Amino acid sequence: MEKNFKRTTVTSALPYANGPVHIGHLAGVYVPADIYVRYLRLKKEDVLFVGGSDEHGVPITIRARKEGITPQDVVDRYHTLIRDSFREFGISFDVYGRTTSDVHRETASAFFRKLYDKGEFVEKTSMQYYDEEAHTFLADRYITGECPHCHAEGAYGDQCEKCGTSLSPTDLINPKSAVSGSQPVMKETKHWYLPLDKHEAWLRQWILEDHKEWRNNVYGQCKSWLDMGLQPRAVSRDLDWGIPVPVEGADGKVLYVWFDAPIGYISNTKELLPDTWETWWKDPETRLVHFIGKDNIVFHCIVFPAMLKAEGSFILPDNVPSNEFLNLEGDKISTSRNWAVWLHEYLRDFPGKQDVLRYVLTANAPETKDNDFTWKDFQARNNNELVAVYGNFVNRALQLTQKYYDGEVPVCGELTDYDRMTLDEFKDVKAKVEELLNAFKFRDAQKEAMNLARIGNKYIADSEPWKVVKTDPERVKTVIYISLQLTANLAIAFEPFLPFSSERLRGMLHMESFEWERLGSTDLLPSGHRLAKPELLFEKIEDETIEAQVQKLLDTKKANEEASYRAKPIRENIAFEDFEKLDIRVGTVLECTKVPKADKLLCFKIADGLENRTIVSGIAKHYKPEELVGKQVCFIANLAPRKLKGIESQGMILSALNNDDTLSVVTVDREVKPGSEVG
Ligand code: 2FM
Ligand code: ZN
Repeated sequence: MEKNFKRTTVTSALPYANGPVHIGHLAGVYVPADIYVRYLRLKKEDVLFVGGSDEHGVPITIRARKEGITPQDVVDRYHTLIRDSFREFGISFDVYGRTTSDVHRETASAFFRKLYDKGEFVEKTSMQYYDEEAHTFLADRYITGECPHCHAEGAYGDQCEKCGTSLSPTDLINPKSAVSGSQPVMKETKHWYLPLDKHEAWLRQWILEDHKEWRNNVYGQCKSWLDMGLQPRAVSRDLDWGIPVPVEGADGKVLYVWFDAPIGYISNTKELLPDTWETWWKDPETRLVHFIGKDNIVFHCIVFPAMLKAEGSFILPDNVPSNEFLNLEGDKISTSRNWAVWLHEYLRDFPGKQDVLRYVLTANAPETKDNDFTWKDFQARNNNELVAVYGNFVNRALQLTQKYYDGEVPVCGELTDYDRMTLDEFKDVKAKVEELLNAFKFRDAQKEAMNLARIGNKYIADSEPWKVVKTDPERVKTVIYISLQLTANLAIAFEPFLPFSSERLRGMLHMESFEWERLGSTDLLPSGHRLAKPELLFEKIEDETIEAQVQKLLDTKKANEEASYRAKPIRENIAFEDFEKLDIRVGTVLECTKVPKADKLLCFKIADGLENRTIVSGIAKHYKPEELVGKQVCFIANLAPRKLKGIESQGMILSALNNDDTLSVVTVDREVKPGSEVG
């Protein structure tokens, strides 16, 4: 059901202030949110764009401990860096607050207290790991041990980073406290839980019936949570960093970061508008929209709405456009592995090119599935689209005006059918872009805007003013007049997407302001209007620049591989007699061929000092057959024969498994007689 709203409150997820922000943040949340807000502002709608840093939670305390500084030092550092990065990229927040502010502490505390007083929580005790040396309960991330699945050491109480399995602290073998290194004990602790099970019925109706228009990924994730059945969720933690639980006898307990963070949206609004904030959060004529990444869906569609409903005086979100993830050159972006393009580094390496990244991230936005950012694509989109299409059209229109009319908009003569057709195509774009933006389809909306530039390019190319000027100078005036109107339209259409370029273009066109309503008009620049001196909007990005970025990532990959390589733990001891049972020999490879229909197998004929033997080995991915002929290799001679692809393999060739999963056969340092024993 379409509802008429008077105003829109737009929030974008509050990033954790425990590290800088990267392209994944920008693509997933902040660029789409900013496009949407700029679009609404251009339409002169009432809109408030709320952002800020999420400054509580365990990862911040871990970072502080690692660096030997306080959590406050950590968040002070990153809040500033993140806020500045967003500002540089033109993310036009009305307010960018922080969850360590006094206003937030008071707001979150009062919110909890109201729910507590209304009896909206249940209190439960549970057993949790406790560090007796450090006298503290341990958050899941503060417990490490052996992974029960892959047996890697150093797995965390919530996840093994080696094999990716989600864990509970009690799953770990030999758990250790990351605080003191001691072995933790189980101890009883009390927490407050939001009984989501009690909210399930209305949530089902509200999401699954009343909000079928939500994006498939959001709707689908909610549905699967609801279908599994909601469980009470703890909203407090035993931690010394956060907002104290405002209840008697709750010493050492703080609000769970996911309880206080979304309240941050409200506190930040309060900070900006102490007298009128309620209009933006409580008036049913306000539309609330949360922009988030996919890992935040459950918190914004289920937990936060349940909190708001339990409180009783707030509106609920009307939509929660969530993106999927952006990968980088085929791999998941990871802060801990430094696998990212950091915004502050991009700004240093590509000064003045904020719009290029905004453009590429929107063109490749992970709106319906995870997407990949590659530097090659970044270069191609800049060179082939921004430079060759948009920039080229604008430059031609402006340069021709400069050349023929000394920078003054000429008089428009009689329109030809072709002129009319071009202008009609232009008029359609407004409705198309609007429809797409209203449906949060930013990628397609930007494509439509770019389409305007394509139409313009075609118009100039077909009209050939540089030729016609010699035979029919009056006609050229019309062509340039129309081209300039198209240029002004482009400046408006691209403003939400590429605000820096639109602002520069606005300057070159000497336009006072932009109005969305005027998009599609053919009289944005009146005849006789003087333009400023044209400059290039975009410039080509050279191969060397891209190669340097790719090299930086390759260096990171190499450094990660070196840092992460740890040999597998040595297996249990064996008796010497057991070793003696193995008959390891050296043989010379006489022949080596590929095994048909088996892409991993090579078939060897080995001189073993006796009668020669056949061995089939799974190393075809690592060696060409001819590389091994004549080499001496080590093999187990008394392994029971077995058939592989119909060939009897009489032994096993030994090879070493490198940390990048490549294989290297074991050879001898000096030539020996075939059949020599290894021992
Ligand atoms: O996932 C995150 O980065 C969280 N800090 C997002 C919080 S969004 C909101 F609730 F504040
Ligand atoms: Zn594991």
